[in-house]
Amino acid sequence: MRFKILFLTCLAFLVACKNSNKTEDVSTISKPEIEIDLQKQINDCENQLEIAVPKLTDLTKHPRLIETDATEWKQVGNHKLIWTSGFYPGVLWYAYDVTGNKRWKDEAIKRTEVFEDFKNITEHHDIGFMMFPAYGLGYKIGGKKEYKDILLTSAASLASRFNPNVGTIKSWSNKMHPRWQQHITIIDNMLNLELLFWAAKHGGDKKFYDIAVKHAETTMKNHFRDDYTSWHVLEYDSINGNILNRHTKQGYADDSRWSRGQAWGVYGYTMVYKETKDKKFLDFAQKITDAYLDLLPEDMVPAWDFDVQSDPNEEKDASAAAIVASALLDLSTLVEYETDQKRYYNAAVKMLKSLGSENYSGVGKADSFLLHSTGAKSLGHEIDVALIYADYYYIEALSRLKKIKTNNKL
Ligand code: GLY
Repeated sequence: MRFKILFLTCLAFLVACKNSNKTEDVSTISKPEIEIDLQKQINDCENQLEIAVPKLTDLTKHPRLIETDATEWKQVGNHKLIWTSGFYPGVLWYAYDVTGNKRWKDEAIKRTEVFEDFKNITEHHDIGFMMFPAYGLGYKIGGKKEYKDILLTSAASLASRFNPNVGTIKSWSNKMHPRWQQHITIIDNMLNLELLFWAAKHGGDKKFYDIAVKHAETTMKNHFRDDYTSWHVLEYDSINGNILNRHTKQGYADDSRWSRGQAWGVYGYTMVYKETKDKKFLDFAQKITDAYLDLLPEDMVPAWDFDVQSDPNEEKDASAAAIVASALLDLSTLVEYETDQKRYYNAAVKMLKSLGSENYSGVGKADSFLLHSTGAKSLGHEIDVALIYADYYYIEALSRLKKIKTNNKL
């Protein structure tokens, strides 16, 4: 009996301790452990843009990468099959957001309004990646309310790829890879859901919301291993929705843990929870985030695939680190317990500090914000380069950090 009372007393004490970590205001990040010179990192970005932007004058193209050992952006056409067109205007919108310098807004408008007709793309899922950083941020940051209809049309184009038999949006077309016969969904597709949530909230069809939720639920069920790491590509039977196979396109091996794939998952489920407030998505976002954090090396920037990371000669992927840093800043304001808020916030700041350091910064070396990303080593290209989407998620993270610090007077 005495043991029972002692046991119950201990249990009550433990529960009380756990609840005492719960804060009243979940957006409060008190006493950060890691300091960062945020203003310097923002200034570095602006200085890099001062150098790069005058060289980027061809409106039919966008900067995509800086090759290893080169210093200037390689530009590629704003083509409807090229998924990266929206990130450069997105970088400029965030530059305007963090500096208030109207020059970046004017430049962003110019670079956004060149591919309005992409709103009708139905050939692949990347329309979200292409339209949201350009037109979505133009609406949100630039006050360009006239972009609304373009975004709503883009959402309808994306939604047209949803297959109710499978419960996901079809990412790519079969002719993009010889092994693809049926319905392909890749983990990256999670990011495109933001366009659907936005559209449902801004006068679009309510079915956009339902499609986004169903896609997230199906992906949560099928796309992750028991240890909460992600496969890259799933092929589903288009008629009965059965999983035909799980494999990779950009990872090291079919069953390996491609770092940016995991990063898309972390970002995607954090965003889905932010939009739905459904706790099952928060729980899942935390589990896959914790799996990612457990795999990180000391400098917080993963190798391009976690399954090659033990080899120090394998290249890094700074883009994965930038994507996760940005996601973690959001996650730190969404989780309930102060211990988790601090854990995610501090991890994000550590990542950003590492990315802004001599080891990863482009300052003095090339025209990008960041170096050392890897786009597709398994396909033999974009290995240890600068990538425009690494810069995009990096400046998004700096913008989010600035808002958190301003709101919480940190
Ligand atoms: N979404 C394409 C990539 O991550 O490379």
